[in-house]
Amino acid sequence: MLFGLFIRKPLAMIHAEANDETRGFSRSLNGLNLLLLGIGGIIGAGIFVLTGQAAANYAGPAIVISFILSGVACAFAGLCYAELAAMIPIAGSAYTYAYATLGQFIAWIIGWDLILEYLFGASTVAVGWSGYVVSFLKDFGITIPAALSSAPFNHTHDGGWIQTGAIVNLPAMLIVGLCTTLLYVGIKESAKFNNLIVIIKLTVLGLFLVFGSMYIIPENWVPFIPDNTGEFGRFGWSGIFRGAGVIFFAYIGFDSVSALAQEAKNPQKDMPIGIIGSLIACTVIYIAVALVLTGVISYTKLGVADPIAVAVDAAGPGLSWLRPFIKGGAVAGLSSVVLVLLMAQPRILYTMAHDGLLPQTCAKVHPKFKTPYITTLFTGIFAALVAGLFPIGLLGELVSIGTLFAFAIVCLGVLVLRYTQPEAHRPFRTPFAPVACTVGALAAVAQMASLPFETWERLFIWMALGMLVYFMYGRKHATLK
Ligand code: ALA
Repeated sequence: MLFGLFIRKPLAMIHAEANDETRGFSRSLNGLNLLLLGIGGIIGAGIFVLTGQAAANYAGPAIVISFILSGVACAFAGLCYAELAAMIPIAGSAYTYAYATLGQFIAWIIGWDLILEYLFGASTVAVGWSGYVVSFLKDFGITIPAALSSAPFNHTHDGGWIQTGAIVNLPAMLIVGLCTTLLYVGIKESAKFNNLIVIIKLTVLGLFLVFGSMYIIPENWVPFIPDNTGEFGRFGWSGIFRGAGVIFFAYIGFDSVSALAQEAKNPQKDMPIGIIGSLIACTVIYIAVALVLTGVISYTKLGVADPIAVAVDAAGPGLSWLRPFIKGGAVAGLSSVVLVLLMAQPRILYTMAHDGLLPQTCAKVHPKFKTPYITTLFTGIFAALVAGLFPIGLLGELVSIGTLFAFAIVCLGVLVLRYTQPEAHRPFRTPFAPVACTVGALAAVAQMASLPFETWERLFIWMALGMLVYFMYGRKHATLK
């Protein structure tokens, strides 16, 4: 009984499935597409919203160091994802890696956990998108009433719920609906849309870097690490670490590339390019943006919802032309994050259904569009409801804890496979694997530990629900016995 729980899916079987042309996906993505999808999925609410708050409340100008620390922690996980995605090029991402290494039960747990990252992540960013759209339109004299652009429920500090008086967050539901439609119609179409959006958001951030740097006042960087206030996490080195925990959200998304392995033309070569390339590019961009941001305006003034726009305002009339571009860039930028996260989720559910852990109807691929259309629709409807009804704070923390949990398992998975299947072909190898994987897993667990207790509680509730589904359905219907 217990043994069956930890049954592992043989690598040979996974490879046969990955090469099975009858499974219906079209291999249409090249390395550049994957790189741009990675960047499209990473740069979003984290840099456009959270950076300012983390600088103002925790780290000051040293938010730059927070970005480096968080980037390095993600790099370990990124290398592990790259090794497994090239080695096991199938749509299930961390779920399949866990199935091959740690067995069915852990695989289910991770598959269920990934819903927190991708589905809830898409909802979170959709709520952020809604905020930026409302503010963008307001600058042009168009007002969307709060009752139709915010969540009807909010949570209180004592764990209860209150009604806010709002009806629904319509713009958030709208962006989820649009992205779902695009994803239903095709991966190529979605990748093309993403390419365009990535060009827009990189151009806008590039403009901010070039023109913003002309308005830097070096005194704003002094002191670079503000003195700790006496409270843990409020400036000083503890603030830098807390800042790193907060802006971890900004890096989420590079791993979603791994769910596209079955649609990559050459996954062995292109998966590492997409995953590691996008992570490196975004780390460099984040560090540069954080430097210019805290150089243009005092960090004390950055605790707002649109810190980059506020920095542009602070620079004076010479830079005010940039304001609409920044807001427009954020609106565009956040939409590709929603798209990429909504792209990863259905592919994982599809793979779980293929393994019998979810109903077979979820394993259907559209005969014309070659997309997992049932799970795409299901994900879209559920994500739209979550985005329309719940507040961003609650969602964001769940996304971070869910993602970190998956990172820890992926790092462990690499180690396990290195010992259990040392001779398996590895097109990409994590350098110094034992150290890199251990540090990667520990970094993820340490960041999880820093999240509030209520977030852990919600994680446990979510997982308990998942186990119920597993024992009542998945375990009985699993194809691998
Ligand atoms: N990294 C993504 C963002 O910042 C989730 O929006």
